Amino acid sequence: MLKKKPREMTGAELKSMLKSSINLKSLGGVRCPELNVSPEDLKWWRDAKIGMFVHWGLYSILGRGEWVRFNEKIPKEEYEALAWEFNPKDFNMKEWTDLAKSFGARYMVMVTKHHDGFALWDSPGSYEGFTSYNTASKRDFVAEYVQACREAGLRVGLYYSPMDWRFPGYFDPEGLPENAALMKKQCYAQVEELCSKYGMIDILWYDGGWLAHKGSDASSAWFWEPEKLNRMAKSYNPKMLCNPRSGWEGDFYCDEGSHEIVGKIIPVPWEKNMCICSGTSWGWMPDDPVSDFDWLIRMMVNVVCRDGNWLVNIGPDRDGKVSDEIKNRIREVGDWLRIYGESIYNTRGGPIEPVDHVYGTTSSEDTIYLHIIDRKKFAGQKIPVAPYEVEAVTTFDGVPCEFDITDGLLNIRLPGNLPSDEKSLADTILKIKVNGRIEHKEYDRIYFTSR
Ligand code: GLC
Repeated sequence: MLKKKPREMTGAELKSMLKSSINLKSLGGVRCPELNVSPEDLKWWRDAKIGMFVHWGLYSILGRGEWVRFNEKIPKEEYEALAWEFNPKDFNMKEWTDLAKSFGARYMVMVTKHHDGFALWDSPGSYEGFTSYNTASKRDFVAEYVQACREAGLRVGLYYSPMDWRFPGYFDPEGLPENAALMKKQCYAQVEELCSKYGMIDILWYDGGWLAHKGSDASSAWFWEPEKLNRMAKSYNPKMLCNPRSGWEGDFYCDEGSHEIVGKIIPVPWEKNMCICSGTSWGWMPDDPVSDFDWLIRMMVNVVCRDGNWLVNIGPDRDGKVSDEIKNRIREVGDWLRIYGESIYNTRGGPIEPVDHVYGTTSSEDTIYLHIIDRKKFAGQKIPVAPYEVEAVTTFDGVPCEFDITDGLLNIRLPGNLPSDEKSLADTILKIKVNGRIEHKEYDRIYFTSR
């Protein structure tokens, strides 16, 4: 458990960090340092770098986004009747874990209950028993998922939304306190089920600790009592990581959406979560365009060079099937990672600050991986490599590159014969070997106290 006193980031320092394009959601939650995992227990996650997120539920039948029930004001009975159509007979969870592996993911996060309230497991705590286990499929998909992840050697993450549109008390927690209390009771019961019934859970990924769509997760902490909730959750596995969307600060931060990542290295554990498709829906939508390969690679590089993790979402259809277009892109990214993964997995962002739209660095041991995302703009760049002493600069395959150093600034001339097809241009990786190990500091716990 955490020994060091947390550091506070306020005022200008905080403002400066938030100037980057990274929009860490849910800052300012309740503090409870004794619940935080230690840097050692966070290590696997920081080493893992790549995760796969899955949004799948009743909304996957309609194909108009996971917010469809709310956005279209679908009456309760009508929406709930979908549970009797949700029956993916030929679906086997191994399809998703195989896909996650082929993507190069080291962990997964699956939605177990979204804001619509439908639980994908045998959940005695579910209000009105609204579960996959009680309806058409009669299956406990969480049990199937956890088992498949373990068999595939993937770390297990569960997404859980405390808020639930079925409760009028959610929209008016003070006016309808009894109904709101029922929602809270469900949340505590279901979190306990998820953390206790399926063995060790590695990540509890909350979403929607807000109330009535007003305020933020942090501002509704009075309602959820996140310290109590997470004390209970972590009593089953103190090493489980939590994100900050339950009103507690959590173990890592989230940047959500497909916006570009620029700016400096972010000195906290953080994860970018985004969709492999357009990002207009997390759940399945027909013909949702898949992002381009080179755009995805640059996104990943920009995240990892700023010391973040990359959690990429897919929305399988009602039968759990993933489109061929998505599958192909997943394999393409995975194939890239199978070749260049050494410069991504087990590295840390830096030590050299990225230059937006030009390059960034990751590092491990005595090697700095220079990720060049625009070769033209890279020409003539002076890279502030001091205090490290450069021993050699090579291409990823070990071909020596010419370089010179003046006043601690490294200038590299790219070999003329680098492959220049579109895929190779997405990220050109050079290895800079330095004299001695690269320092990777473990971050202090940082609290964000004002914006
Ligand atoms: C948002 C949305 C939700 C989605 C989530 C993924 O908070 O409410 O639909 O599941 O982000 O990060």
